[in-house]
Amino acid sequence: MSSNLNGPQVLLCVNGGIAAYKAVEVLRLLQKADCKVRVASTEDGLRFVGAATWEGLTHQSVASSLYGWTESAIPHIMLSEWADVVLVCPATANTMAKMAAGIADDLVSTTLLAVPRTTPVVVAPAMNVNMWQAAPTQVNVRTLRERGVRFVMPVEGRLACDAVGEGKLASVDQIARAVLDAAGSRASSRTMAGRSVVVTAGPTHEAIDPVRYIANASSGKMGYAIAAEAARRGARTVLVSGPTALEAPVGVERVDVVSAAQMHEATLRAFEGADVAICAAAVADYTPAHPADHKLKKAHEHLDTIELKETKDILAELGRRKSQDGRARVVVGFAAETNDLVANAQAKLERKGCDLVVANDVTRSDSGFGSATNHVTLVSAAGIRELPTLAKEEVAVHLLDEVERLLKRG
Ligand code: PMT
Repeated sequence: MSSNLNGPQVLLCVNGGIAAYKAVEVLRLLQKADCKVRVASTEDGLRFVGAATWEGLTHQSVASSLYGWTESAIPHIMLSEWADVVLVCPATANTMAKMAAGIADDLVSTTLLAVPRTTPVVVAPAMNVNMWQAAPTQVNVRTLRERGVRFVMPVEGRLACDAVGEGKLASVDQIARAVLDAAGSRASSRTMAGRSVVVTAGPTHEAIDPVRYIANASSGKMGYAIAAEAARRGARTVLVSGPTALEAPVGVERVDVVSAAQMHEATLRAFEGADVAICAAAVADYTPAHPADHKLKKAHEHLDTIELKETKDILAELGRRKSQDGRARVVVGFAAETNDLVANAQAKLERKGCDLVVANDVTRSDSGFGSATNHVTLVSAAGIRELPTLAKEEVAVHLLDEVERLLKRG
């Protein structure tokens, strides 16, 4: 197996069909081309090519069930985030129907549903001619293509059922080439290898007493998407996270914190020796000045006024420290705004010594706290660039492209 750690990571999803044996050849071609390949198989797929074959070739266990996999308790998330490219080969009519409808009822279909939008998916179908030409199959193929799924279309020939017609798996060379094409951008985009990135994410909790706290509605999604993208580009990535319900992205070192003070300390420590800091966390600006060490009693202790004190501004401190050791470092802040978006972001850019501020419109339902999408404007000394409403994963791609430009500029 290839030991080139910089090659693209391909997740091969095998379905139950006679053409599964040809997926073995595709895997070999991909390995020869320096890809790291992992295999996930449906139970039916394993009837055609057994786990021993895949494990012998990849030196890794095959994932075939959502439960009991030795490598991860949540295999569908681990595998979908690990992959630079996903290949479904051979793809059955059943799996394509599940992909089109969003059905997740086994490991492979659940993994396919969890694939980030920015990860290319290549599908190589193989089946009986009537099943291929059936109206539901053709509708599903069209739907998936419209969503950006790449197809290596089946060809005409003698099929396993002895029928002659369309439905034969495309050549293994063609399939491997399609995967390498899809991986091209990813493979050459390990552009942050050797860099070190710190990302803050999520809310902070500021204790009033042992059971009450001041918090906000940040889910952590934006910061986690940035950390995942930085890691995918090969950067050593530390994610300083306030309390969230999210899993740490693959390849990211997560440091869990609760309060603004803890986030301040952990972020500054992680920033020593780092090239980039991106502050997407919604850090409390104020914290109770005298948190009680016992649960306050409504009847005889005052809960109507809580004395607050200002927290330390992490971003401003990073802005001050970024040029201390003479290295070119990039500091990025977010600005969650309800009005005067760009003007407020420009003021923050200057006041906090940032290279870039992501002005975040938090008045829209498709943007800001908790949503899957975000509507942002990138504000830097070089200018202002408003992005359309995008999945947070896609915002992360644009943001890191900009960070890389700033790093090059030095
Ligand atoms: O987590 P999600 O649900 O995905 O939502 C994403 C988000 C809306 C939280 C995120 O996109 C965002 O806008 N984060 C910044 C929220 C915020 O607190 O903005 P602010 O304008 O109050 O702070 C400005 C900047 O200073 C931010 O980069 C913040 O991380 C930083 N800050 C603020 C206070 C403080 N004490 N220290 C800081 O570093």
